[in-house]
Amino acid sequence: MTRTDTLARPAIQSLRGSRIREVSQSVADTSDVLAFWFGEPDAVTPAFVREAAKRALDAGDTYYTSNYGIAPLREALARYTSALHQPIDAGRIAVTSAGVSALNLASQLLVSPGDRVVVVTPVWPNLVEIPKILGAEVVEAPLAFVAGPDGAAEWALDIEMLLDRLTPQTRMVVINSPNNPSGWTMPAWQQRLVLDHCRRLGIWILSDDVYERLYYGESRLGCAPAFLDIADDQDRLLSVNSFSKNWLMTGWRLGWLTAPAAIMNDLGKLLEYNTSCAPGFVQRAGLAALDSGDAVVRDTVARFRAARDRLFAGLQTIPGVTANLPPGGMYLFFRVEGLDDSLSLCKRLVREVKLGLAPGSAFGDAGEGAIRWCFASDGERLDEGVRRLADFLRAA
Ligand SMILES: Cc1ncc(COP(=O)(O)O)c(C=O)c1O
Repeated sequence: MTRTDTLARPAIQSLRGSRIREVSQSVADTSDVLAFWFGEPDAVTPAFVREAAKRALDAGDTYYTSNYGIAPLREALARYTSALHQPIDAGRIAVTSAGVSALNLASQLLVSPGDRVVVVTPVWPNLVEIPKILGAEVVEAPLAFVAGPDGAAEWALDIEMLLDRLTPQTRMVVINSPNNPSGWTMPAWQQRLVLDHCRRLGIWILSDDVYERLYYGESRLGCAPAFLDIADDQDRLLSVNSFSKNWLMTGWRLGWLTAPAAIMNDLGKLLEYNTSCAPGFVQRAGLAALDSGDAVVRDTVARFRAARDRLFAGLQTIPGVTANLPPGGMYLFFRVEGLDDSLSLCKRLVREVKLGLAPGSAFGDAGEGAIRWCFASDGERLDEGVRRLADFLRAA
């Protein structure tokens, strides 16, 4: 037997490691780094949510639940989704172990080796790498950083380019809106065109909606435009969502998947073979977040909006930096004049001025030349970060 027999299969070996981690691990000690590299809200989970989990544990909620999640949580999620979008039956919702697990389940449900999967990029790397675990051929449809109608820069999608890439051979299109890292938010008219096109060709849409509530544009309900607004219950649409960002619950690992009724039975089998179920006491915490967490979402959005505006104003003062005001999400994805190796620049930033940012190339080739800054942070930290970046670029 040769030594290569102990290696993972080729599709796994060729997965890309996280370049954000590559930056954070490029220094021995990060304790004195002003870090904005990871995408995590800046506050602990609200006390009433933590209390709900403690109560459930004290009541002995330590058993398996249904694969799809406990009924009260599925019903609460159906009410929540119906209020934001259009009426959804609880039978079409499965509770998952956070957004990442929902994304894996979605790909496992649909993707066979060799299938063509089109992903709008730059994007959080998991969306590109997860289909590859299943042996998919991933084709990117890149956003461009262009001058918007008012002359200011913005990230935008050439919709004709995307539709051209959605060929009859395409199995699935993956769209994350509001987008991590760029904040780009797909307008409703583009969603309509994509849905019509995918209906005609039988293509599945995997919509990553985890940032839908972190939306700063015009909206009656405080929610970005979504495929769930326009799709009917027969459409080939899977929507991924999560408790992580809305209710400050990243560490709890709780999310959900909304799917057509016809696929739910197979999804139940996959849930059984993945995690079997999300922990019951965590689901109880999620229920508390849904029942009483509206104010948390409102407050989070207000804080993030102020942080976004403050960081944007700060970056505007630095020569050579071009930033846009993102309509959604919790990141500013700005360009630096002449930058062609964002990974090296971010390693230098952390080493030389103790500023932790994420290289644009971590989000695919379409992200090279840009840097991601998570603005879920307090204003003074952001100001200090801007000072360090300005000093560094002045001296560079
Ligand atoms: C675009 C996107 N989708 C999904 C997730 C998954 O989040 P979680 O697994 O914490 O629910 C993240 C997390 O950063 C994300 O940025």
